[in-house]
Amino acid sequence: MAHPLHLTIHVEVLTEAELTPAEALTWQAARTATDQAYAPYSHFHVGASLLLDDGTIFRGTNQENAAFPSGLCAERTALFGLAASQPERRILGMAVAARPAAGDFVPVSSCGACRQVMAEYEHRQKQAIPLLMPGPDGSIYRFRSLSDLLPFGFSADDLPSKG
Ligand code: THU
Repeated sequence: MAHPLHLTIHVEVLTEAELTPAEALTWQAARTATDQAYAPYSHFHVGASLLLDDGTIFRGTNQENAAFPSGLCAERTALFGLAASQPERRILGMAVAARPAAGDFVPVSSCGACRQVMAEYEHRQKQAIPLLMPGPDGSIYRFRSLSDLLPFGFSADDLPSKG
């Protein structure tokens, strides 16, 4: 019989002062990464940072292109860049930040394509990756897991042949 299915996603709403020291580093890295965005078309600078299991932080920024669809979001340049250069590293945390080219930080929510990629890398390392995302009025959203951003998402588990 038809029945409702209620999903629960746990998100904490924090102030900067409530971040752990490791989170504060990751958060700041995402913000400073926006300086390296290549966004001459949208003028929207996005930074993403990944806290790694060796204590270092890997950054990504949005990279736009005159052929618009050829550009890529900050979240994916970070994840693809890390996977291409240091695939052995585990990701312990992620943060995203955004601002207009000449302006203060604004809330940003990762796009659907990035959510799909974020879920893949979490699935790949078999360990949840918490995410810090800027919310309204200077607040910070702390998600427990990247896949919480993509309920009912498609993953390798859905492929008939998993190799
Ligand atoms: N963008 C990101 O890099 N990440 C997001 O979460 C949202 C959008 C980029 C893509 C494009 O370069 C610009 O922001 C405007 O959409």
